[in-house]
Amino acid sequence: MNQPVLEMRGINKTFGNVVANHNVNIKLYAGEIHALLGENGAGKSTLMNILTGIYKPNSGQILYKGKEVVLKSSKNAVDLGIGMVHQHFALVQTLSVAENIYLHSEKCKTILNSREMENDIEKCSKAFNLALDAKAKIWQLSVGEQQRVEIVKLLYRGTEVLILDEPTAVLTPQESVEMFKTLRKMADSGKVIAFISHKMGEVMANSDRITVLRGGTVEDTMLAEDATEERLTKAVVGSANKLMKQSQENRGAHGACILKVQDLSVKNDKGLLAVKNISLDLYAGEIFGIAGVAGNGQREFSEVLAGLREVESGAVLLKGEDVSRMSPKTRIKKGFAFIPEDRLSMGLVPSMNMMDNTILKEYDTEPYSRKGILNHKAIQKNTVNFISRYDIKNGGLDLPVGLMSGGNQQKLLIAREINGEPLLIIAAYPVRGLDIGATEAIHKILMEQRNRGACILLISEELDEIFEMADRIAVMNIGFMSEVLNRNVTTYEEVGSLMIGMDNNSKT
Ligand SMILES: Nc1ncnc2c1ncn2[C@@H]1O[C@H](COP(=O)(O)OP(=O)(O)O)[C@@H](O)[C@H]1O
Ligand SMILES: [Mg+2]
Repeated sequence: MNQPVLEMRGINKTFGNVVANHNVNIKLYAGEIHALLGENGAGKSTLMNILTGIYKPNSGQILYKGKEVVLKSSKNAVDLGIGMVHQHFALVQTLSVAENIYLHSEKCKTILNSREMENDIEKCSKAFNLALDAKAKIWQLSVGEQQRVEIVKLLYRGTEVLILDEPTAVLTPQESVEMFKTLRKMADSGKVIAFISHKMGEVMANSDRITVLRGGTVEDTMLAEDATEERLTKAVVGSANKLMKQSQENRGAHGACILKVQDLSVKNDKGLLAVKNISLDLYAGEIFGIAGVAGNGQREFSEVLAGLREVESGAVLLKGEDVSRMSPKTRIKKGFAFIPEDRLSMGLVPSMNMMDNTILKEYDTEPYSRKGILNHKAIQKNTVNFISRYDIKNGGLDLPVGLMSGGNQQKLLIAREINGEPLLIIAAYPVRGLDIGATEAIHKILMEQRNRGACILLISEELDEIFEMADRIAVMNIGFMSEVLNRNVTTYEEVGSLMIGMDNNSKT
């Protein structure tokens, strides 16, 4: 245990002016499961991509068994026995399990018949209790099974250092338990295991040593037995006394109840429950912030509210009227507005110009059209209006919006959505990927809407945004909604610990 198999020393990595890793030191030992914990954007994936030769650090050293190595490519890392299972798998869907694994191996230089190949691979997977049908095609497998293929791919290549990026994000709870059993078996056989996670519970339950990253730097590192909920939360989200910016207007001043969500459950695309028995009341003149790590049911929740996804059970009421079965279009007429998280695939049509995009929802209504004929003058006037009102920088009215910057696309989309003074605005990650200027502009628009009396549901994974904008806050975690917190009394710690799931037990 005295010499680490791998050591990273003083690693720095920037992307443009984003500091992804700053002076990071970390040691990985044989026989250990090392967890890398931190919020989205903390620099976890970047660090592990450096360790697997995918990114080059700006400075810093990597030592393998005490000797410095320079990883010029991922092949260098693979040759040293370092392998990573990425969040997005790299499997050829139309090939079999055996073919995928074999193609990735050194042995693939010799031609084997498929029987030999399959036997060989099944032997390898059985050694670690990773049940796999070597003949199956990748497309026939569940996500959990595909992940197993990725793991066996590395084992078959003789990988000694296995890194997994958020491995449980795609798994059911049962699959996660099985996966951690496998990781333990591999560690017991002397391999080095590292996994990335933002879930405190699973980190505490399944690792031997924990390193916490925040804002690109190592905040804390400890043996799992020394980890407490308090210590980890502090390292993950920062100190309790973080200065909070007070936004304008009085918070929590309630108008009428606009949206009532009653015991709502919704399934995701895989048919699994993604939203679990959520009940909420949202009021006019408030911003209700939903915090949480993306992928915990937020997408399904916002889509079901917008009418883009079916209700599994429960109901959605707008001012007392059950809208659960109404189409998106009917909901819009009744006062819904939706700022979707994929602005370019769900909100705007990138190949169309600004004018066409502004009338996407209302092309068949006056003044934009009359008796089926578009009124180009009215459309143009409206677009020009949006441009000046929201300061939308653009390359001309005829340019496809796909060529505009993200911030200007988002302004256009929001301008269109709020044009009819909606009662309810569902805003999913409205400033994701935008620069500071655009972020501020969009926040200002949302504040103005709140102040005129709209009810705003703001979904975000940035705690700063939630605390700056929201009047009330709840956290989504594995499909559940936490209790509702008043922004004036809650803390980053409280919200942060709900985000990383320390509260799961009380809900399941
Ligand atoms: N290829 C990239 N180009 C530009 N910025 C990046 C890139 N990869 C990561 N970043 C930025 O670096 C920071 C750390 O990201 P990442 O390592 O992915 O965090 P984590 O895995 O902890 O969520 C983030 O601010 C992210 O936006
Ligand atoms: Mg990551």
